[in-house]
Amino acid sequence: MSEARAFRRIGVLVSGRGSNLQALIDSIGRSELQATIAVVISNVPGVAALDRAAAAGIETLVMPHRAWPSREAYDEALAAALRAKGCELVCLAGFMRRLSARFLDVFAGPVLNVHPSLLPAFPGLDGPGQALAHGVKVAGCTVHLVTPELDAGPIVAQAAVPVLPADTHDTLAARILVEEHRLFPWAVGRVLDGGWRIDGRRFLDA
Ligand code: GRF
Repeated sequence: MSEARAFRRIGVLVSGRGSNLQALIDSIGRSELQATIAVVISNVPGVAALDRAAAAGIETLVMPHRAWPSREAYDEALAAALRAKGCELVCLAGFMRRLSARFLDVFAGPVLNVHPSLLPAFPGLDGPGQALAHGVKVAGCTVHLVTPELDAGPIVAQAAVPVLPADTHDTLAARILVEEHRLFPWAVGRVLDGGWRIDGRRFLDA
């Protein structure tokens, strides 16, 4: 256990494109984020994120959720797999599946999610689309600790971008994504460094 901690081993859960996974890989490659990605696990076979992990020499696992009889059983197996790899923190990098309290109980370490809106505005699917439809003038992204409630855990970091009059869904989503790629590795490092506490909903320096 102490050896695993020394290497700041993290696990990354993915379901798709994997650009945030790539941002983590690249940040580690530049020695900005001091961590080792012990495993990348996808609930969807054949996704680009798995190719990105393999190209970086990172171990991958495919765990299709339908192969387990219930959400609880799946979440327990997922948490056990991450623990078996010595992960002390889990990143949700486009993992398109809600995690139950059972996952958080069994994993028992920090779980971080990156979300493409300034929470608590626009939780759930398609943050950029919701922001455009609502007509807000500022959008952005949030990295938060995962709790059983969707997109509602303590906020570790946020970054804002303007919404421009000519924006389409794609231009706004791309502007937000640039900030996600910067913010997520920074927030992972912040949480791994320790020296923080939770006070109510607030993530604060200890
Ligand atoms: C990102 O927009 C992230 O905020 C959201 O899902 C998307 C994942 O993109 N949770 P990628 O797979 O990291 O490219």
